[in-house]
Amino acid sequence: MFHCELLEIAMADIHSILVVGAGTMGNGIAHVAAQNGYSVTLVDVSAEQLERALGIIRTNLQRQASKGTIAESDIPTILGRIATATDLEAAAAGVDFAIEAASENLDIKRSIFRMLDAHAPAHCILASNTSSISITTIAAITSRADHVIGMHFFNPVPVMKLCEIVRGQATSEETYQATFALAQALGKTPVTVKDYPGFVSNRILMPMINEAIYCLMEGVASAEDIDTVMKLGMNHPMGPLQLADFIGLDVCLAIMEVLHEGLGDDKYRPCPLLRRMVAAGYLGRKTGRGFYSYS
Ligand code: CAA
Repeated sequence: MFHCELLEIAMADIHSILVVGAGTMGNGIAHVAAQNGYSVTLVDVSAEQLERALGIIRTNLQRQASKGTIAESDIPTILGRIATATDLEAAAAGVDFAIEAASENLDIKRSIFRMLDAHAPAHCILASNTSSISITTIAAITSRADHVIGMHFFNPVPVMKLCEIVRGQATSEETYQATFALAQALGKTPVTVKDYPGFVSNRILMPMINEAIYCLMEGVASAEDIDTVMKLGMNHPMGPLQLADFIGLDVCLAIMEVLHEGLGDDKYRPCPLLRRMVAAGYLGRKTGRGFYSYS
């Protein structure tokens, strides 16, 4: 009973959402927030990236309209809820909830959270979409660690139902309840996890991908056959090597490093072939070449 009242009060307070970073995850988060009625400001240092993001959101909304999941006539209204900005300080003033979806780099996240902490209203919750960096570490550089939490979405955000809610060491119960309810309001199924390396999703997913890369390196089977085993034998929508290309091999390597260092067990050592692919700049779909070639 107490929790229900708390959710209603907290949810009623969230009207405007700031999304920091207009890459794949940022534009997906802005898309679902606007689709679910929130007023969104999407911020990026690059005006070109913001333009690209709006184009991708429009395309994905049109894809949904052609499948009948939204009405074509709703597209202008949804897009009209998204403002863009390159000035984070100005954009942070007056927002109720901020979701950081910048690069997986602690220094970048630190500077964003410092700025959000300085310029967002005191009631504003600061969430990170990080897939591997500790929420407790990010929270510690702010003066409102109790208002900092992880909100880990999955790519493609408009399609994937999961949102991992990561409670940092200092995250308050109110922040957690409000964030959990927001994830539900965005049409996601939230799952609560503690702030341990890789949370749950990447602690399980990345070692599987890493093992698939070992199979390839050792010549156990071809890339296509390894993927076919997992698609047809385990009903995965994508094989692990195809999925690694989709996520980005640099991201996969960074997460394996976090698991290896954070958990201290050699079972998490990144596969040498993964390191070699990243060193070569073969990062997957985004560079046109990974375990597969993309034109
Ligand atoms: N926006 C909106 N809708 C989209 C979309 C997008 N970006 N991409 C795909 N869709 C929709 C399609 O319109 C289609 O809708 P219907 O079911 O209504 O027809 C549906 O999603 C399936 O798409 P497609 O038919 O084009 O292609 P598909 O069947 O091959 O599915 C996929 C594509 C959804 C990406 C599927 O291959 C899949 O689920 N792959 C696994 C994705 C995954 O594991 N993601 C998590 C990665 S890990 C991560 O993100 C976090 C991390 O920390 C690393």
